[in-house]
Amino acid sequence: MAPGGKIRTFFACSACGSTFAKWSGQCTECGQWNTLQEERSGPRPAKGRGKPHRENTATALINVPALSEENCSTGVRELDDVLGGGLVSGGVIMLAGDPGVGKSTLLLQVADALALRGRPVLYVSGEESLPQIKRRAARLRVAAPQLIVLAETDWPEIEQALRQVQPQAVIIDSIQTLRHPEWPSPPGTVGQIRESAQAVINYCKLTGTVGFLIGHVTKDGAIAGPKVLEHMVDTVLYFEGQQHQTHRIVRSVKNRFGPTNEIGVFQMTERGLEEVSDPSGLFLSERPENASGSVVGCAIEGRRPFLLEVQALVTPTHYGSPQRVCTGVDPRRLVLNIAILEKICGLGLGARDVFANIAGGFRSSEPALDLAVCAAIISGYEESPVPAGTIVFGEVGLAGEIRAVPRIETRLKEAEKMGFGHALLPAGNLKKLEYHGKIRTTGISSLTGLNKILFQ
Ligand code: TYD
Ligand code: MG
Repeated sequence: MAPGGKIRTFFACSACGSTFAKWSGQCTECGQWNTLQEERSGPRPAKGRGKPHRENTATALINVPALSEENCSTGVRELDDVLGGGLVSGGVIMLAGDPGVGKSTLLLQVADALALRGRPVLYVSGEESLPQIKRRAARLRVAAPQLIVLAETDWPEIEQALRQVQPQAVIIDSIQTLRHPEWPSPPGTVGQIRESAQAVINYCKLTGTVGFLIGHVTKDGAIAGPKVLEHMVDTVLYFEGQQHQTHRIVRSVKNRFGPTNEIGVFQMTERGLEEVSDPSGLFLSERPENASGSVVGCAIEGRRPFLLEVQALVTPTHYGSPQRVCTGVDPRRLVLNIAILEKICGLGLGARDVFANIAGGFRSSEPALDLAVCAAIISGYEESPVPAGTIVFGEVGLAGEIRAVPRIETRLKEAEKMGFGHALLPAGNLKKLEYHGKIRTTGISSLTGLNKILFQ
């Protein structure tokens, strides 16, 4: 960036990482406001940016030694599933989430599990002092003798510790606190985050060490720092959860070594994060009996089915244009489904506010939830409850047609496991159905028939 020589001042956008010679209120690249920060680039040392020296030669591909394909377990099964089997040597994983969601807790537990089974693990904290880490560790009953901790933010010190300890994995808590001395801007700025992350990644790739970077997120949920950070690491995981609820979801949004969109479910307890082996049970646990506007649907996230309670509240609009408010479901799909219900089923929603919600703070934009959303709105509108043992899934098309959804057997098996006796599903799915379980199935081809089938 800086052509060497003098120190130069420039401005970098904290949202997209673009750089500009002059400050302005809006980033002209990504359109965000108030994201330009002052940065300074210094003279680059002749040796190259902190990269360890090595001989690098072009090699015939057939002579390159194969990477061991073996995935190593993190010791936390839900996390292994999200990672597509476990850790890959030299792989760098970014774990991003809101403050207080449990990032440090989860990775301290992972560090403990890894250190118990193999070589040392180095946990570097730039946010907490060693006694603070110790207190958390005591709470989590973390006591692996091979777990090495370091409270440090300067990269050269961390690099020295890495060379000394030679860990199987290093955890950086958090990347926003790291400082690379060859970059003059303070920690947390775009250039500094990029430079320090690059240093950690280079070290991991060169030595085959597994790297975990904890990342903070901005107000709108993106990882704070340059957008390129997501491209630099191998895997990006988001840790989601609401402050007032105990369950937490880890979601993979990028994975070079496995599938994306896998999710793992945890519960925050007095002794740290525990895996939830039966998420459908958790999300349905507080479901009201015989309440109108509550319908159970099934969403597939990654490889797993989740039974979810979709709730809709339909009330008369008292002022201005009707409101459409939702949490958990995709707002655009909600508006679309409402329009289809008005047009095809003749529901008078033009003068009604509609509030839709997936209970338990779960978030999904799977089209198969459409039918459950529509059923919940009809039930809320009619003030008539849907029978408790009924589960509903299907995608709704613009003409009100119900379209087939994938992995129907998986959904039915999960519903059967949770004690449902009747499934309402796309007629198109019934033709090829290879399910011989106990659930009674009813095929439906258009929204117009939904009302009658739901409340019969
Ligand atoms: P933490 O891991 O510090 O979050 P992050 O690193 O993402 O900022 O988790 C902090 C929250 O978790 C805090 O509100 C206390 C709670 N907590 C528990 O409920 N149980 C526990 O065993 C621990 C260690 C934390
Ligand atoms: Mg933390």
